[in-house]
Amino acid sequence: MEKVVSGIRPTGNLHLGNYYGAIRNFLKMQHEYNCFFFIADYHSLTTHPTPDDLHGNVKQILAEYLAVGIDPEICTLYIQSDVPEVAELTLLLSMNAYMGELSKTTSFKEKVRAQPENVNAGLLCYPVLMASDIIIHKAHKVPVGKDQEQHLEMTRKFARRFNNMYKNEYFPEPEAFNFGSELIKIPGLDGSGKMGKSEGNGIFLVDNDKTLTKKVMRAVTDSGPAKPNQKMPEPIQNLFYIMNVVSTPDTVEHFKQQYNNCYIRYGDLKKQLAEDILKITKPIREKIEDIKANDAYLKKVAKMGRDKARESAQKTIKEVREIIGIKQF
Ligand code: TRP
Repeated sequence: MEKVVSGIRPTGNLHLGNYYGAIRNFLKMQHEYNCFFFIADYHSLTTHPTPDDLHGNVKQILAEYLAVGIDPEICTLYIQSDVPEVAELTLLLSMNAYMGELSKTTSFKEKVRAQPENVNAGLLCYPVLMASDIIIHKAHKVPVGKDQEQHLEMTRKFARRFNNMYKNEYFPEPEAFNFGSELIKIPGLDGSGKMGKSEGNGIFLVDNDKTLTKKVMRAVTDSGPAKPNQKMPEPIQNLFYIMNVVSTPDTVEHFKQQYNNCYIRYGDLKKQLAEDILKITKPIREKIEDIKANDAYLKKVAKMGRDKARESAQKTIKEVREIIGIKQF
């Protein structure tokens, strides 16, 4: 079975966009590939979280992954820092990663602009750490969004460089993985663009009934159609798009007809939309809470992931050390 690796930084909660985009793909993928999913807590240290925040965020994401149905028995679900071999491989790869290429990386340049007071070496070496995450398992496929393609390109470069340097086709060159026929992109509630963590336009899996309903009721609309069968403006299209994903075809048809006949009341549409979103998120939210309250289960899951991930990582590190010439007396 081909190997898939994907990491998620423990910042913020999963939203509806993550759920219908990445997560639903992961759920199918775990049955068809040898999947390694991990929580990238080393990566999140670049922004200097407090110890409590760091641990809390890792716990939250772990609980959310489990609640949505990532199965720790089937895939390898682990926490990056539980696998110190990743750190060792990062050190080894960094000897062949050059200042010039690292400082030219788009994500690095963006960070320099965004936080000039905290341009640390961890940020500069972010792509080296990410390459280690991936090639430590000799992965073939990495399901990532557009914003990570450059990092993946660098991963291939570092893998190739290692292979060339030691004249050994050791690491496969991983490629971006588009799993599933189409990616569902959930739009935000602010009228344009897609749902994001930081855009303030998101519906989170953990939002309670009141918060969620309030968010949906506040979604951007307009003054309504003026003549029959008018083309929908983007904010209205977006609401229908989400409705298409979460509601029954009958419901969608009902409101479409109302729109086309110009007697739609957006308040009714939004109320229905909020109810239908809640039908999906509420059971997940309750599961997240249950899991978070179950320390014994979390401990068991983390250990299972750690053991599987380390077995794979230790094999690679052992071989890499030999290839490099690090040998025990
Ligand atoms: N850089 C990724 C992001 O910001 C997270 C990540 C870290 C990752 N290591 C990875 C993703 C390895 C895929 C594979 O989203």
